[in-house]
Amino acid sequence: MKKTKYALVTGASRGIGKAIAIQLANDGFNLFLHYNQNIEKANVVKKKVESIGRQAEVIQGDFNSNEGIEKFIIEIKNLLIQSEIISLHTVVHNAGHATSNGFGEVGYNEFDQLFNANVKAPYFITQSLINHMESNGRIINLSSGVTRIAFPHMMVYSMTKGAINTMTFTLAKELGEKGITINSVMPGIIDTDSTANWLHTDEGQENAKNMSALKREGQPEEIANVVSFLASEKASFITGHNMDVTGGSHL
Ligand SMILES: NC(=O)c1ccc[n+]([C@@H]2O[C@H](COP(=O)([O-])OP(=O)(O)OC[C@H]3O[C@@H](n4cnc5c(N)ncnc54)[C@H](OP(=O)(O)O)[C@@H]3O)[C@@H](O)[C@H]2O)c1
Repeated sequence: MKKTKYALVTGASRGIGKAIAIQLANDGFNLFLHYNQNIEKANVVKKKVESIGRQAEVIQGDFNSNEGIEKFIIEIKNLLIQSEIISLHTVVHNAGHATSNGFGEVGYNEFDQLFNANVKAPYFITQSLINHMESNGRIINLSSGVTRIAFPHMMVYSMTKGAINTMTFTLAKELGEKGITINSVMPGIIDTDSTANWLHTDEGQENAKNMSALKREGQPEEIANVVSFLASEKASFITGHNMDVTGGSHL
């Protein structure tokens, strides 16, 4: 009988994280679904996972502060112990947020919150869970195409994702001996709540069309498919890679 695999997906209540959770459930994973403010939406994802025949637990965490990250780490560890789960196979660091405040506008608090949620959380969650991971486990980070395309109005957000790319290839070297791979996925414009405001306008549609070689925005499921591949046996010899999934943006 095949051993059940467990995955943690952060930011699984909406958007790309929701699509990843559902795809991983279809791949046979049982899931820990992290959310921050949207418990109802997280519970909808839990029900969907269960309807696929997999198990799911929801778990809250606000990653904007050190305290919120630490509280989440304690809770996920307790949950692993209570459910007698020996190890996680896959951890997907997807939770994150952006800002439209530019270089001159971002203040200390916003800067800290962006780095806390987008960089510190993946770093310290990985540090804390690494001894709770299978030896052939997978860590998958959600980065962004903005790490290679300059958008001055998203500068601090882009810097957080640049840090994630650096963490990806550096940690890959550290974790290689354990047989754990770590890769990042760099989406382009994906149709989610975080882009809806401007993407669902005529101008936004025109911009998305002009930006990508494929002449369109992407869908959350198109990112989830890549995560599914990276979490699979098929990706066993890929590590330290930052994978461009921008539909060929700004080529
Ligand atoms: N959409 C894009 O075009 C795009 C492009 C490149 C990269 N990305 C990256 O892909 C990931 C997902 O993006 P998305 O568009 O799917 O975002 P989204 O629809 O806005 O969803 C964000 C998710 O992250 C959680 N989250 C937000 N702030 C958080 C915080 N401070 N602490 C803990 N959790 C928090 C949210 O939880 P609650 O809903 O429960 O509050 C939600 O589940 C992000 O890392 C983003 O940077 C997105």
